[in-house]
Amino acid sequence: MAQFDVIILGGGPAGYVGAIRAAQLGLTAAVVEQEKLGGVCVNIGCIPTKALLHSAWVASIVARDAKELGIETGPVKTDYGVAMKRSRRVAEQNSKGVEFLMKKHKVTVIRGRGVLQPGRKVKVGTDVHTATKAVVIATGSRVKGIPQIGLEINKTTVISSDEALFLEQAPKTMAVIGAGAVGSEFADIFTAFGTKVTLIEALPRILPIEDAESSDVLSKSFRKRGIAVHAGAKVVKADVRKDGVTLTVEVGGKTETIEVEKVLMAAGRAVNTEDLGLEDCGVQLTDRGFIKVDPRTLQTTVPGYYAIGDVAGPPMLAHKGSREGVNVAETIAGQHPHPIRYDNVPSVTYCHPEVASIGLTEEQCKEQKLDYQVGRFPLSANGRARASNETEGFVKIIRDKKYGEILGAHIVASHASEMIHELVVARENEYTVEEIDLAIHAHPTLSEAIAEAALDSMGRVLNT
Ligand code: NAI
Repeated sequence: MAQFDVIILGGGPAGYVGAIRAAQLGLTAAVVEQEKLGGVCVNIGCIPTKALLHSAWVASIVARDAKELGIETGPVKTDYGVAMKRSRRVAEQNSKGVEFLMKKHKVTVIRGRGVLQPGRKVKVGTDVHTATKAVVIATGSRVKGIPQIGLEINKTTVISSDEALFLEQAPKTMAVIGAGAVGSEFADIFTAFGTKVTLIEALPRILPIEDAESSDVLSKSFRKRGIAVHAGAKVVKADVRKDGVTLTVEVGGKTETIEVEKVLMAAGRAVNTEDLGLEDCGVQLTDRGFIKVDPRTLQTTVPGYYAIGDVAGPPMLAHKGSREGVNVAETIAGQHPHPIRYDNVPSVTYCHPEVASIGLTEEQCKEQKLDYQVGRFPLSANGRARASNETEGFVKIIRDKKYGEILGAHIVASHASEMIHELVVARENEYTVEEIDLAIHAHPTLSEAIAEAALDSMGRVLNT
């Protein structure tokens, strides 16, 4: 039994970052974690998938470009098991890094499963710990299957990203169900390792939350790489066997059957709110199952209990959770942090080419009847992109016609994940397209395409 100022349930990117910020502000903090520190992101999410995507990218580039680049190689052979083991080492290293950070900031790590009790208490095993100021719930989310159509995750033929990250070899064939970030990234990875991938998305296009032009370019790129992309497709039946799965899919008014060795479920995540003692403490959930929080303070329906990260609502992204961790710690310490702008959280899918965005899509601008102007610049007209043989994609900036405010920006490019931040900073500070243009962009860089798209939105593009 111990006493802390703040006890945080969950050591993922929301929880551990919140603990560090609390410690920086002079609060005593404890993180309760039942598995490895770093949560899904570090152990079975963002980090190991990026390691595998790097392997996938190198394999694709060597196979596609080596000869043209004047590099002699034999036939490219890939081994998923080797790449998987490297991705585990990278994840392990990151998790150890979080352990180090906890020690450095004198955050106590309590191992085990925490359950909330009234009076800002947390029970772990037989011990009950008390928080004098606040308890923060940061228990994250997990993958989910679609039991309604017989696609329960069985961890052998119907798997989730949790199992895909530990496979010793790439299957010959795989259907990926759901073409959000998870589905699109794994479709990319397994294709590079020789798997024949069928990507199935219920909505009319892949990456449905992105701008339609981004979805179109990625769809074409995926098809070129041999991925069978089925958008607007509904899995109506699944025959799950020990050696494979037969899916019955309705697409474009026709019914198709797809035989695969494995199905990878990437149709969304469920939040971890069960058996946490929420009801006993009076902490309420929203209609969609997230923990109900005040968007400014992140306090739940019970004073002294806060929620951050995936459990506190969308977008379910590590960087959104980390920012909530910082803000909640500052609020608990009596500060008044800058409110989080939930309309300015970047979205990135790290497949190849990468897809990144900020703000509104063009469809949303239309729905909101905004008076807007679009500026575009294709990567095929960018010198640096041509030099690297990475000419797929574009930068698209949607600006308000009257004031030049950046309403939204969309990038498909080999390094879109890095490029998007110029526009994130611009939107956060309410810069206009004129101010983007005023800043001199180094030549030759992919970022010049951003300046050119800004110019194009004003009818002054230079290089197309
Ligand atoms: P998601 O909700 O982003 O995408 C799931 C997709 O599956 C949707 O497009 C949905 O329309 C589709 N779908 C649902 N039911 C279906 C069905 N029966 N048949 C076919 N398609 C179906 O979920 P995802 O990709 O699993 O990611 C979960 C969360 O994790 C998201 O919030 C995502 O943003 C986040 N994440 C972010 C990453 C990143 O930032 N790069 C990487 C991985 C996950």
